[in-house]
Amino acid sequence: MYSKQSATSLLIKSLIIIFFIFSDFSTRAKEGMWIPATLKDHEKEMKSMGLQIPIDQLYNESGTGLNNAIVLFGRGCTGEIISSRGLILTNHHCGYGSAQGLSSPEKDYFANGFWAGNMKEELPCKGLTVTFIRRMENVTAQVLENVSDTLRDALRDTVISIRVAALEKEFKKKTGLDASIKPYFEGNQYWVALTETYRDIRLVGFPPNAIGAFGGDVENWMWPRHTGDFSVFRVYAGADNKPADYATTNKPYETEQFFKLNTTGYKEGDFTMVYGFPGTTKEYISSYELSQVYNITDPISIEARTRKLDIWSKHMTWSRDNFIKYTSKRAGVANGWKKWQGELMGLRVNDVIAKKQTYEQAFQAWAKIDSTLPWADNLLSQMRTAAEVASPFLTQDQYNKEALFGIELISQEAAFDNVINCFRLGLSQSALRDTLKKVMTGMGGFYKNYDLATDRDVFISLMVLYFNNSQANIPDEYLAQYRAHDQDVNAWAADIYKSSMITSLSKVTEFAENATPGDTSKIFADAAWKLYNAIATIRKQKILPVLQEYYANMHRLDRLYIKAQMEAYKNKAFYPDANLTLRVAYGQVKGLDPEGPAKYSFQTTLKDVVALDDSTSDIFKVPAKLKSLYKAKDYRRWGVNGTMPVAFVASNHTSGGNSGSPVLNAKGELIGTNFDRAYEGTMSDYYFDPTRCRNISVDIRYTLFVIDKFGGAGWLIDEMNIIAPKTPAPVKTK
Ligand code: ARG
Ligand code: GLU
Repeated sequence: MYSKQSATSLLIKSLIIIFFIFSDFSTRAKEGMWIPATLKDHEKEMKSMGLQIPIDQLYNESGTGLNNAIVLFGRGCTGEIISSRGLILTNHHCGYGSAQGLSSPEKDYFANGFWAGNMKEELPCKGLTVTFIRRMENVTAQVLENVSDTLRDALRDTVISIRVAALEKEFKKKTGLDASIKPYFEGNQYWVALTETYRDIRLVGFPPNAIGAFGGDVENWMWPRHTGDFSVFRVYAGADNKPADYATTNKPYETEQFFKLNTTGYKEGDFTMVYGFPGTTKEYISSYELSQVYNITDPISIEARTRKLDIWSKHMTWSRDNFIKYTSKRAGVANGWKKWQGELMGLRVNDVIAKKQTYEQAFQAWAKIDSTLPWADNLLSQMRTAAEVASPFLTQDQYNKEALFGIELISQEAAFDNVINCFRLGLSQSALRDTLKKVMTGMGGFYKNYDLATDRDVFISLMVLYFNNSQANIPDEYLAQYRAHDQDVNAWAADIYKSSMITSLSKVTEFAENATPGDTSKIFADAAWKLYNAIATIRKQKILPVLQEYYANMHRLDRLYIKAQMEAYKNKAFYPDANLTLRVAYGQVKGLDPEGPAKYSFQTTLKDVVALDDSTSDIFKVPAKLKSLYKAKDYRRWGVNGTMPVAFVASNHTSGGNSGSPVLNAKGELIGTNFDRAYEGTMSDYYFDPTRCRNISVDIRYTLFVIDKFGGAGWLIDEMNIIAPKTPAPVKTK
C-alpha cells in the first residue's frame, strides 16, 4: 500500500514536470488569433513586444476602434478601409471573381488591369458585399444558462438554437444592427457580433495578373514571394451613410475610422499585427483526429490531385483553348494540393502527432486525479474508439470524393438529380421541356470550361487509383462496366465518353428538347449516370450516416475535451479556433529559412521581380511598363534609396480568410496587406511553430507605387492618410 502510494506520487511529480514543459512550450510562441474584445488580457505582452498604442484604439465598446475599418470582404476574405471616403484595400485574388464578372475580351482586366480615373468610373460589383463588425459581446451566460455539459446533444442543440434566435432578435431590436451569434471553443462560449453589411461595392483599381498574380501557382504558398496581390474597391452608402442597394445617387461611405498608411518602413524584429477573419483552425484536437488528417485525408487528396493536375497541365500546354478552360479550376485544385503538402511536411518535421500523444498522457493523468469533471476521464478513449470506427469510412469516402468526384464526367451527373426531380413534378410535355431547358442552360457554365479529351484522361488515371484502393467497396456497377470492356480502362473510357450525353451541352439540350413526361429511361441508361448513381446511393445509405454520426459525436467530445484542457491548464491563454470571425494576431517581422544555409531575407524587392522576368512564361512575364519604371528607378516617394520593397514576411498566426487583412505596425498603422502563408508553416492550422510559420504580405509601398506610377491613379493617393519618412529613408532591405 505504502509503496504503491509512493509510486503514484512519483508519477504525479513527473507528470507535473510534463505539465510544466507543456505550459511553458505553449505560451512561448506568439501563436494565437484573439477576439478583439479580449485583447486587454494581452496588453502587457503586446506592449512588451513593442505595441505603442492603447488596446482601446484597436477595439473599444464605444465603437470608435479600428475594428470599424475592417470588413469581411465577400464571403471569405478580409478588406480594410484606407480613406475617409470608404476606399477598401484587399487582395487581388479576393477581387478576382468581381473583376472576372466585369471583364470581357474588349475589356480584359486580367491582361490590362483596371484603374478608375475618378469616382464616376468606379464599377459596381454585382452581388459583392462587405460586412463591418461594430461590436462584440460575450453572451455565453445567456446561451448556456443551466445547460449542462453532458446534456444529450439533440436536446442541447435545440435549447441553444432557440435561445440564440431569441437573443439575436433582441440585439437587432436594441441596436438597429444585424446580430449574429456564433459558438467559440466548440460551443463552450458564445459571442454576438453586431454588424452592418453594405451591398453597393465598386471596383476602383485592379492590377493586371502580371503584377497581382505574378508567380502564379509556382510561387503560391512560398517565400520568397514577388506578387503584388492587392486590389482596390469602394463602399457606397445611401444618403444616411447606411447600407443601400446599388443606386447612382449613392455616396461613398464616410467614416472617421480608416487606416493610416505608414511608408517609413520596418525592420526585422519589429512588432506587427494582423487584424482580420481567419476561417478554420483546429489547434486543440486529439492525436486521433490529427492522425486522420495526416494519414488519410491529406495524403489521399494529394495523390488524387497530383494525377489530375498532371493531366490538366499537359492538356493546358497542348491547347490555348484548354488553358483558358482550366486555368481557374486548376488554381483552385492546386491551392489545397500545395497547402496540404506543406502541412504534412510541417506536421512531420515537428512530430506533432507524437507531441499530442505525450500531451494526452499528461492530460489523462490529470483527468484521473481531477474530480471536478468526472466525464473527462474517458474522453480520450472515447475519441480513440470513435476514430477507429470511422477511419475506414473516412478513407473510402476520401477516394470517393477526390478520385471519383474528381472526374468531371461523374461529378457533373449530380446535376441530373435535379433533372429527375423535374420529371417527378408531373409537368405537361411543354412545361417539362421548358423547365429542362432552363436546367440545361444553367449547366452552360460547366461546358464553357469543359474539355472531353482532358476529362477522359483524368477518368483513366483516377479510376485506376480508385480501383486500386477500394477493393471490396467497389460497387457492382463499376465492376460490371469494367468487365464489359475486358478489364481495359482505356476502352471503358473511350466508350463512356462517346456514349454518355453528359459530355456535351448539345447532347443534353437535345435530350431536354425531346423529353416526354414519365420517360427517364434515357438518363437511367446512361453509363455515366449509372456510375454517379451507384456511388451516390452507397454514400447516402452506407457511408454518410456513419460519418455524420461520427462528426456529431466528435464535435461533442471536442467540446468537452477543450473545456477539460482549459480546466487542466488554467494558466495557459487559450484562443478559440478560427471560425471566420474578427481576430487579432500579433508577431514580428521575421525572415525565414529553417534549413537552408543562407537565411532568406524578410523582404523582396522589385529587383528580385525583374530578375525572374521570363517573356515566354504566363506567370513570370514582367510588364514592360514596370520594367521601365524599374530601369529608371522612377519610384517617386515610394522607393527606399533606389529600391522598391515588394513583399515581406512576419510571424503572425493567420489562416485562410486572412487574405486581404491589414498588417499593422506598433502604432496600428498599415504597413502591408496579408495574402498568404509560407509553405514551411501551413501546418499552423493545427500546430503553430514560431520558427517556421510566416504570413506573407504585400508591402504598402509597392501597392502605392503600382497605384500611382503603374496605374496612373494618383488621385486615389490624395484621399489617403500617408505617414512618410521625414528624411530620406535609410537602406533597410537585406
Ligand atoms: N494561397 C493563397 C490562398 O490560400 C493564395 C491563393 C491564390 N493564388 C494562387 N496562385 N492560386 O488563398
Ligand atoms: N490566401 C489565403 C486566403 O485567401 C490566405 C493564406 C492562408 O491560408 O494563410 O485567405
